[in-house]
Amino acid sequence: MTDISVNYLGLDLKSPFIAASSGYTADMEKIMALANSGAGAIVLKSLFEEQINDEVSFLNQASEEHAENLDFLQRYVTDYSIGKYTQLIKDAKKNVGIPVIASINCFSHNSWTDFAREIESAGADALELNIYSLPLNRGRNSHEIEAEYLRIVNGISGILKIPVAVKLGEGFTNLGNFTEALQGNGAAGAVLFNRFFTPDISLKSLRIVPATPFSSKTEYLRELRWIAILSSQLRRFSLSASTGVYDPSSAIKLLLAGATTVQLCSVLYKQGPFVLSDFNAALKEFMKSKGFRRITDFRGMLNYSNISNPAMFERVQFLKTAEQQS
Ligand SMILES: Cc1cc2nc3c(=O)[nH]c(=O)nc-3n(C[C@H](O)[C@H](O)[C@H](O)COP(=O)(O)O)c2cc1C
Repeated sequence: MTDISVNYLGLDLKSPFIAASSGYTADMEKIMALANSGAGAIVLKSLFEEQINDEVSFLNQASEEHAENLDFLQRYVTDYSIGKYTQLIKDAKKNVGIPVIASINCFSHNSWTDFAREIESAGADALELNIYSLPLNRGRNSHEIEAEYLRIVNGISGILKIPVAVKLGEGFTNLGNFTEALQGNGAAGAVLFNRFFTPDISLKSLRIVPATPFSSKTEYLRELRWIAILSSQLRRFSLSASTGVYDPSSAIKLLLAGATTVQLCSVLYKQGPFVLSDFNAALKEFMKSKGFRRITDFRGMLNYSNISNPAMFERVQFLKTAEQQS
C-alpha cells in the first residue's frame, strides 16, 4: 500500500499537495472542488493589513466632519472585514474535511494578535503569516526590519494554540539565520517563497501596468536550493514549497529536496482543481516505481547533507560558458 500522507505543522494531511492562498481559495465552490480533487489542505486567501487600513483611511476622510464617530466607525470596519473572513473559515470548515489554513498579510506589529485569536476561534487549523512590505524607507536597515517580522511572529504564535507558518519572500541576506530565528520565535514552519505582485512597463501606452500574476514552469528552482539547504539544517520545522510547480515531477523533486508539502496556485488557475488528483496519482506511481512506501522513505533524500557533492547546492556563479555547462 502506497501512503502519501504527511505531517505538516503538526497536522495530518492525506496528501502533501496544498492549494496555496489566492483568489481561488476565497470561493467556497472552488474550495470544495479542491478538497474533492484530493488537496491535502487549503490555505485561504489572505486578509491584508492594507485592506483594513485602506477601508479605515477612507472612513477617516469621509467622516472628517463627524470626528466623534470615528473610533466607532474604525472599529466597525475592522470588525466587518474580520467578520467576513472568519465566516469564510467557518464555511470552509463546515464544507471540507481537510485542514483549513487561514492567512493574514501583515507588516506591522499592531492589533493582529486580537485578530489571530478570532481566526483560531473560528476553527482554522493553522495560520499562515504572509509578512512583507517593500522597504522604501532607506533609513531602516535590514536588522530593524527583520526584528519587526520576528516581533509579529513571536506575538502571534505566543498567544495561539494552532501552529503558525511564515510565508517568506526570497530577499533575505541570510535565509538560514532568519529561518532559524523564526523557529526560535515560535513558527512551526515556513513557506518558500511567496511571489509578489510585480509592475511592468507597456511600451504601447508608456504606462506602468501589472505584470502577469502567474509564475512560469522553471521558477520552482528558486526554492529547490533553499529547501534542500534548510531541510538539512532545521529539525522539527516544516518547509512548504511554493512557486512554479506546474507538474508532478517538479513537485516530487521538491519533496526529494526536503519539502514537507508543496503548494499549487498558478496551475490551479490554468488547469482547474482536478489537476490535484493527477498530482496524487503521479506521486503514487513514482513511489511504486522506486519502491517507496511512505513519503518519509524519500523526503530530503537529495538535500544538502544527503548528497555526495553538496557543492552543487553551494555553487552560485557560472564558472563555465553556457555551452560548457552541459
Ligand atoms: C491571483 C493570485 C493571488 C494571490 N493571492 C495571494 C494571497 O492573498 N496571499 C498569499 O499569501 N499569496 C497569494 N498569492 C501567491 C500564491 O499563493 C503563490 O505563493 C504564488 O502564486 C506562487 O505559486 P505558483 O507559482 O504556484 O503560482 C497569489 C497568487 C496569485 C496568482
